[in-house]
Amino acid sequence: MKISPQPGMGVVAEGFDPSSDSDVRRLKQAAYRHRIVLLKDQHHDPAGLLEFGRLLGAPQTYYEPVYRHPDVPEVFVSSNVATGGRRLGVPKTGQFWHSDYEFMPRPFDLTIISPRRVPKERRGTLFIDLVQAYRRLDPDLAAAAADTEAIHSPRRKFKIRPDDVYRPIGDVIAEIDARTPPVRRPTVLRHPRTGERVLYVTEGGTEAVEDADGRRRPDLLKQLLSAAGQLDETTEHPAIHLQTFDVGDLLIWDNIALAHRSLHNPSDEPAESWRVTVYDDEPGFNPPE
Ligand SMILES: [Fe+2]
Repeated sequence: MKISPQPGMGVVAEGFDPSSDSDVRRLKQAAYRHRIVLLKDQHHDPAGLLEFGRLLGAPQTYYEPVYRHPDVPEVFVSSNVATGGRRLGVPKTGQFWHSDYEFMPRPFDLTIISPRRVPKERRGTLFIDLVQAYRRLDPDLAAAAADTEAIHSPRRKFKIRPDDVYRPIGDVIAEIDARTPPVRRPTVLRHPRTGERVLYVTEGGTEAVEDADGRRRPDLLKQLLSAAGQLDETTEHPAIHLQTFDVGDLLIWDNIALAHRSLHNPSDEPAESWRVTVYDDEPGFNPPE
């Protein structure tokens, strides 16, 4: 397998052999070391994509059934395509800064995306490296973040499901709070695989930052998000990496070290991707130099 750097962030991997333990290990190592791996020449059906996910960790089934592929529930479908009046998956997912399952007790370790239909314009996913974001903080801001906790919730971005139509909005919100109560974790996390410090806050998923005395600090959250580049609506902040991909690629990323956001495509061009997300409990990856 050949691994080469790509501009900005991440690497491109070619010639991957799924039967080679060494290739699997190198692929994972590259994902943690370089954050993003664009793996070429991958053509999987939903079951094959799940099999691929098993090489990297334990695939998880998304908690909301509306996103699940009808044949392989571990495959999450993002699609604006309706076939015969029936929609598969959910359109316009993730068009805000977040980390996958940020609002759950345990976020996913690795996200794997298989693009099925790619629009010609406004294509790709935006990424910010939250390890670098922490390293770039000015010392006063880093010190202010040090003893705080961040509270994460899907509340603001939860998508109304077809079955929610005509339900009272208060009932829907109460259901969200009961199923996915806000979770807290240190604002500056230790990356479970690499040991690096991660500024784990996102514009879409972090509801608040609380100091050691239990006071909410909206000013501090805003400063941290701004320093990380997440409040720049032009998305031209130097910390933002635009990752493009084509049908036949697999995009693999370190979901703890990176915040991501899909590009909004105002056209009705068909767009569809399949996703498998995994927990990886294999220890022992060293931080990038
Ligand atoms: Fe996502």
